[in-house]
Amino acid sequence: MNFHILTLFPEMVMEGLSSSIIGRAQDAGVVSVRAINIRDFTDNKHKKVDDYPYGGGAGMLMQAQPVYDAYAYAVNTMSTRQKPRVIYLTPQGSVFRQEMAVELAREQDLILLCGHYEGIDERVLEEIVTDYISIGDYVLTGGELPAMVLVDAISRMVPGVLSNRQSGEKESFTGYLLEYPQYTRPEKWRGKKVPDTLLSGHHANIEKWRLEQSLRRTRERRPDLYRSYEQDRERK
Ligand code: ADE
Repeated sequence: MNFHILTLFPEMVMEGLSSSIIGRAQDAGVVSVRAINIRDFTDNKHKKVDDYPYGGGAGMLMQAQPVYDAYAYAVNTMSTRQKPRVIYLTPQGSVFRQEMAVELAREQDLILLCGHYEGIDERVLEEIVTDYISIGDYVLTGGELPAMVLVDAISRMVPGVLSNRQSGEKESFTGYLLEYPQYTRPEKWRGKKVPDTLLSGHHANIEKWRLEQSLRRTRERRPDLYRSYEQDRERK
């Protein structure tokens, strides 16, 4: 999986994705992340990339030309000839979900476009964007953090990024249930004991306990997800 991030703040995304599991996946060559600085592509002699909106209004907009040229550079320097999907991170997009991470992890290349200021000239969005994605109903100052969220969530669904034991299967959001609580040593901490079932070594009972905990936790913390779980079971 190759991510190509179009941004005005390349250091921010590269630094944020260089440690831990995603950093290791890059070192291992399973995932690559490249940040392309939109400012490098402006025709403006003062390196300007933004201007006032027609019709007036607050703030500045990113201009079409540097965004388009950065996109064209990304496409022309990709290993594959196929036209990649281009994701624009915006609060106006579909809200990102685990299923989208699973689906996007099947792509060979993805271009992530990060906006700044009040947004980007609509004409270049019409020209290049295939998917509009939001990471939640709140407004951030730019698309970089959302792009990093997508790279992380998508990468961990790419085969070889997680070890078999960690692998994305049995955890929050597969099958709509949240994960059960977990415990490690010591057996007793501040007077709190690890649940007896987990110490019993009885695997069937442990599985049963974990499922019960997952059900209860989902019902309490995410009633919306619990309803999806129930509906999904009714269909099966
Ligand atoms: N840009 C600003 N806010 C955003 C959000 N919530 N999701 C995606 N991109 C954004």
